[in-house]
Amino acid sequence: MAWKRLPGDKAYRVLEAGPTILVSTRNNAGRADLMTVGFHMVISHEGVLAAVISPGDFSQQSLAETGECVLGVPGVDLAEQVVDIGNCSGFDVDKFDRFGLTPKNGKHVAAPLVEECLANVECTVLDDTLADAYSGLVILRAEQVWVNTGRAEHRTLHHNGDGTFNADGDLIDLKDRMVLWKAYQD
Ligand SMILES: Cc1cc2nc3c(=O)[nH]c(=O)nc-3n(C[C@H](O)[C@H](O)[C@H](O)COP(=O)(O)O)c2cc1C
Repeated sequence: MAWKRLPGDKAYRVLEAGPTILVSTRNNAGRADLMTVGFHMVISHEGVLAAVISPGDFSQQSLAETGECVLGVPGVDLAEQVVDIGNCSGFDVDKFDRFGLTPKNGKHVAAPLVEECLANVECTVLDDTLADAYSGLVILRAEQVWVNTGRAEHRTLHHNGDGTFNADGDLIDLKDRMVLWKAYQD
């Protein structure tokens, strides 16, 4: 077998590929913004999540101000917008307007859901004490999940850390083998 070696700081190239998401915020002046985020994870079955929101970004300032955001999960049909949203700043543009996305009111937070996404997760900040040490790492509590059942395209987008992406492939249903984890299959 041939193994290619990469330095530790390239670990994201093999681990990042959860769904690339859009993080939505609305600051106290009412200005909504979006950023693209590949560095995020689920921490517990109780809805504790983590995301890296870089210090100084417009989104990070809004998040620090309000303690609220929405994690939108785009489908592959939004791939180009997802990349472009991550290549400009709310300091310069209104991203909902520029990229033709529709802000939609949620229930728990003022940050808007993204109507065109497959799913949206309303979140509040649980802990931001790690942000300074770890590139803006914030721990979030998922308050509400919205799943868009009206969409034909269900494939999500996965960043390989280098500007290339994979779309989801075939669904592999192994529920029968998840004998220890039945409680989490609904
Ligand atoms: C594919 C992709 C993944 C990204 N992942 C992250 C990330 O995990 N964390 C982060 O802080 N920025 C990430 N970015 C960069 C932000 O999306 C980018 O800085 C954004 O434009 C900030 O916008 P804002 O100033 O309006 O908040 C990513 C960008 C791209 C294109």
